[in-house]
Amino acid sequence: MSGEIKNIAVIGTGVMGSGIAQVFAMKGYNVNILDISEEILKKALQNIAWSLNKFVEKKRIRKEDAEAALSRIKPTTLYEEAVRDIDLMVEAVPENIEIKKEVFRKVDGLAPPHAILASNTSTLSISEMGRATRRPDKVVGMHWFNPPQLMQLIEVIKGEGTSDETVNKIMEVAKTLGKTPILCRKDVRGFIVNRILGLVFNEAFWTYYRKEASMEGIDSSVKYSGGFPMGWFELCDYVGLDIAYEVGRVLYEAYGERFKPCPEVIEPLVKEKKLGQKTGAGFYDWSKGRPRIPFELSDEYDYERSWAVAVNEAAWIIHDGVADPESIDTGMKLGTGWPQGPCEYADKKGLNNILQKLTQLYDKYKMEMYNPCPLLVDYVKNGWLGKTAGRGFYKY
Ligand SMILES: NC(=O)c1ccc[n+]([C@@H]2O[C@H](COP(=O)([O-])OP(=O)(O)OC[C@H]3O[C@@H](n4cnc5c(N)ncnc54)[C@H](O)[C@@H]3O)[C@@H](O)[C@H]2O)c1
Repeated sequence: MSGEIKNIAVIGTGVMGSGIAQVFAMKGYNVNILDISEEILKKALQNIAWSLNKFVEKKRIRKEDAEAALSRIKPTTLYEEAVRDIDLMVEAVPENIEIKKEVFRKVDGLAPPHAILASNTSTLSISEMGRATRRPDKVVGMHWFNPPQLMQLIEVIKGEGTSDETVNKIMEVAKTLGKTPILCRKDVRGFIVNRILGLVFNEAFWTYYRKEASMEGIDSSVKYSGGFPMGWFELCDYVGLDIAYEVGRVLYEAYGERFKPCPEVIEPLVKEKKLGQKTGAGFYDWSKGRPRIPFELSDEYDYERSWAVAVNEAAWIIHDGVADPESIDTGMKLGTGWPQGPCEYADKKGLNNILQKLTQLYDKYKMEMYNPCPLLVDYVKNGWLGKTAGRGFYKY
């Protein structure tokens, strides 16, 4: 356990909250869980018990440990009871700023003054949540990945008012949970991982929209030639088309033309409520399990295009002072299972080659996502071409 942090409250016990509560309880923290009804809390406890049992079946924990973890979780619908003795709250209510601000305001009024208030938001402003409290220095982003029990990564986000002490404590707490935290130094939309993934998705959507490759062809190339764990359409189905659509909208609002969404690819499916795996259909039919991605089409799409836009966005993240290359690479490997991070990849491939690819694409399509980031252009001008030059994103 981390320093004085022992007692946790998890507010909102849906997909993410119940997993987060379980992870804390498995590491010995006392966890109060709060939701809007007894019934939802009962369901959350059942889900946690089911998941703990899976850990026992797989011999990853002992039965006694599972029972002890479960006994450390206390459900309640009363805020006062949930937060009066806590050191840390993790909020995982629906992705709506008004609901979140209300939770932060309430918890701020009831929790001890030293308590840190964290949000698991994927897209909303941590600074805004901070401003809803009288302790913005203790409000921070703690962005988990789904499923929290299995995913290694946590993005820690510093809001405008967040103190370094708070950030450091959350980084430490994440490590006590056996997770790898990465620091997102600014409260920017999409943080690190969703920002890069969002652009890679967009590149694929536009390519498909222009009929330059089929959906199966893009996925096959990305998977079998590029070595990524899933194709982009398959992954989008897995994430949920409603979530991907909303993230895309937020990124466009935040960064403008670079994230120009592709019309007529996701939106019609979202309108039809074909949201991916969870509804049985999205880009693919999931009714009979995971879709088969045909191997034969693995040359249809140039997966280097995915890397080029990913490296470009990584360059923007560094340019904007949001994160360092190591955090970006760790994020993409642990958050999405990429075989390498974009900065490592660029350093191996040669930054000049990535820049050339982007320039070609930009000349051809005149789209901002291909317009090379000035940082990348400068690195190449400086001769920082990557590993063989002794300096690229990293120093060798
Ligand atoms: N699902 C994912 O893959 C994922 C990944 C990372 C982050 N997130 C973020 O985590 C948060 C939760 O997402 P989720 O997928 O677990 O949602 P969910 O809908 O599964 O769960 C939300 C829970 O919050 C409860 N709730 C609603 N209003 C509440 C209130 N006022 N007070 C307390 N509880 C309330 C709901 O009853 C529900 O149980 C969102 O901010 C989302 O963006 C989700």
